[in-house]
Amino acid sequence: MARLAQRIGTIHTSPIRRVAALLDEARERSDIISFGGGAPSIPPPPEFLNEFGRLMREDGLRSCAYTGTRGIPKLREAVAADVKKYGKVDFDPATEIILTTGATESIFSSLMCLVDPGDEVVVTDPTYLGYREMVELAQGRAKPIPVAVEEGYQPTGDQLKEAVSKKTKAVMLLSPDNPTGRIINEPFVKTLIDLANDYDFWIISDDIYKHIIYEGEHRWVSHYPRAKERTITVCSFSKEAGIPGLRLGYTLAPRTVVESIEKMQQYSTLAPESIGQFALLQYLNQDMKEQYIKNSVTTYATRRDFMGEMIQEHLSLAKTTKPAGAYYYFVDMRPYLAKLHKTEEEFAKQLLDQTSVAVIPGGFFGENGKGHVRMTFVTEPEERIQLGMEKIAQFLSHAS
Ligand SMILES: Cc1ncc(COP(=O)(O)O)c(C=O)c1O
Repeated sequence: MARLAQRIGTIHTSPIRRVAALLDEARERSDIISFGGGAPSIPPPPEFLNEFGRLMREDGLRSCAYTGTRGIPKLREAVAADVKKYGKVDFDPATEIILTTGATESIFSSLMCLVDPGDEVVVTDPTYLGYREMVELAQGRAKPIPVAVEEGYQPTGDQLKEAVSKKTKAVMLLSPDNPTGRIINEPFVKTLIDLANDYDFWIISDDIYKHIIYEGEHRWVSHYPRAKERTITVCSFSKEAGIPGLRLGYTLAPRTVVESIEKMQQYSTLAPESIGQFALLQYLNQDMKEQYIKNSVTTYATRRDFMGEMIQEHLSLAKTTKPAGAYYYFVDMRPYLAKLHKTEEEFAKQLLDQTSVAVIPGGFFGENGKGHVRMTFVTEPEERIQLGMEKIAQFLSHAS
């Protein structure tokens, strides 16, 4: 067979996709209790779903047509108004906003436009598992800052000062965080902005969970002084409209970055998906969003509290922090794993095989995530969270 490109040989298959395949397989066999996924569990509002039907019926040709690479102007205007309302920052819809195929394309295009071979991109460890591989695809190097449960998974300004150098091209900021649920503290952000100005690097702020907040608040990085001109903000409708499969997101960035991303996307995806863009006009303009977010956050907050109690009751040796936002508990299971002589990956696999409870091995999120598992609290209602946690406790007591 003819050879493949070298670039693909160094890239690993996304572990989450591997887990998704395992879950699909297991679902065929039995009833899975899933603490594994990362998708919203509240369906989009019915009026929003009806809008798709209306658009297809009344103007199928336009609803399925190509749009411009940046997305339809009216949606960019609606996004600008939404960003102004929630983030208190002005972005010009004509020059500073580009629609994308989910946050994934937004991050990927941004990194491809910024990173030269050998450039470094600072990430926390653990962090969202897409980042490192995307940095490598752009021929850069991910530089990790370790974070730990004892510090509430907060990185410090001193760690950042040590990590950045002349080689730094960007720092990835993710708040609220996946997999830990922490909201970044303000002193860290201020240090980050100072260093970005001193060393002249970019801040890529992944704001995909910006509305999924239980405690504290999300302040947009571009809202801080001296930040907007060097920040690329990644947003997505996957979580905030409950439409992860429709693949729509957007990037907010200075004009030159938006122009560069547009060039990338002209050759990668051509244009974002069309009918979702038209439907999102209603979603953003008619307060459906406010209702959906309120409803989701109320439901998820109850499940978060309940899972927290269950962890305390059933995994008393484990350490974790109560997530301030996003969908996940990141649990340090080392006291249990040491007794079992198992890695967290072996534990997760056997747990799924023997009890049909799915958790995600923490090592997927970085070296420092080893010995941990990520558990989503948004997918299952309380009674199934309880059942799942009881099954984990039983598994641990039988296995030790
Ligand atoms: C932190 C983070 N960034 C990006 C993504 C990808 O989002 P999208 O569905 O918009 O591509 C996810 C998905 O879970 C995520 O958790």
